[in-house]
Amino acid sequence: MPTLLLGVTGGIAAFKSVEVASRLRKLGWEVHVVMTEAATRFVTPLTFQGVSRHPVHVDQWAAGSDSGIEHIDLARGIDCFLVAPATAHTIARLAHGLADDLLTMTALGVRAPMVLAPAMNPKMLDHPATQANLRLLEARGWTLVTPAVGEMACGDVGSGRLAEVEDLVAAVEATRLRDLVGKRVLVSAGGTREPLDPVRYLGNRSSGRMGYAIAEAAAARGATVTLVSTARLPAPAGIEVVPVETAQEMHDVILARYDGQDVVVMAAAVADYRPAERYGAKRKKTTEGWTVELVPNPDILYELGQRKQHQILVGFAAETGDPLEAAKGKLARKNADLIVANDVSVPGQGFEVETNRVQIVGPQGLVADWPLLSKREVGQRLWSLIAALPQFGAGPV
Ligand code: PMT
Repeated sequence: MPTLLLGVTGGIAAFKSVEVASRLRKLGWEVHVVMTEAATRFVTPLTFQGVSRHPVHVDQWAAGSDSGIEHIDLARGIDCFLVAPATAHTIARLAHGLADDLLTMTALGVRAPMVLAPAMNPKMLDHPATQANLRLLEARGWTLVTPAVGEMACGDVGSGRLAEVEDLVAAVEATRLRDLVGKRVLVSAGGTREPLDPVRYLGNRSSGRMGYAIAEAAAARGATVTLVSTARLPAPAGIEVVPVETAQEMHDVILARYDGQDVVVMAAAVADYRPAERYGAKRKKTTEGWTVELVPNPDILYELGQRKQHQILVGFAAETGDPLEAAKGKLARKNADLIVANDVSVPGQGFEVETNRVQIVGPQGLVADWPLLSKREVGQRLWSLIAALPQFGAGPV
């Protein structure tokens, strides 16, 4: 039976965590609860004790743990640590390793998957300090469950409401998923750079974040992952990263490895054109203008679609304006199984940022329409969608 340690902090949404504990217990989780002092002002420990059927832990000075070191006992042997709701204060303490109550002391001892569900006023969530703390925690491996948008208890409207109970339950369940064991997947990430001369290139704004999040989510679920990337982000643990720069290089690497893959996800922003001429030395500045002729690059996804045998092919569509029609066209033209469409003209989604809002089309039309989520969460959900495709179980012929 998997064990969850549920950390509850002092937010008005603490009552929702009672339902989360109850649902997870019904799904076979053993649930232990640690609360901050502030959380007990919103929901009594007795309520969580009733739902979890275990004593609830609040006070680091209380006697009675097995070893006398309660925070170590609580962190030991668990399969998941969920903090929901997570207030701005607790997020800051977790980010900076402060250990001034039982919950934050325990957090430092946890080596199991960690899930964080922020809930606070939209202005507090949006504050650069909170955002920086969330990025820090994410970089250290916490999975963030994106807060929902809506009206807050204070009357403000925006992002900051604790995610829905179903989303919290799904995030915890996802930490147990090993449905990609034995699968080989290749993900492309970042924007290609097409050189004009040794110092200049034509490029685009892709940071690689979307592709890295997809690759990391696949590895966490047991896949053998190759990441073909132009981005110079830190290499994720356990993933083979093949660095490339141009579309042609990306094409050559991916095509050479295509036969052995079960799934290919093309999240990279591949330049459609490259300069016809590439100067061997830095082109000198003159008083004249500079006209550059562009020639088409290979369309990698199209070629993969043409050579498809057993592979599942997932492409992206970066559009400005309604991306759905364009995505449907790309799906058919490139013989893809899914196209992840994002409108890159809307702030907060698409290039460079940590979040994305995507719609996904398959041969039958729209198969998913998700709200604004962290790219990590998009990656997790995308793999659940891919794993549910009928052709997923088939494997190499
Ligand atoms: O990297 P981030 O900063 O996180 O930003 C993420 C993203 C916006 C780059 C990502 O979400 C995204 O949309 N990636 C695809 C960008 C793109 O090239 O879209 P497109 O509509 O131009 O291409 C359609 C599909 O064909 C894509 O899967 C692309 O990888 C592929 N393609 C395109 C051109 C080409 N020559 N070869 C290709 O394989």
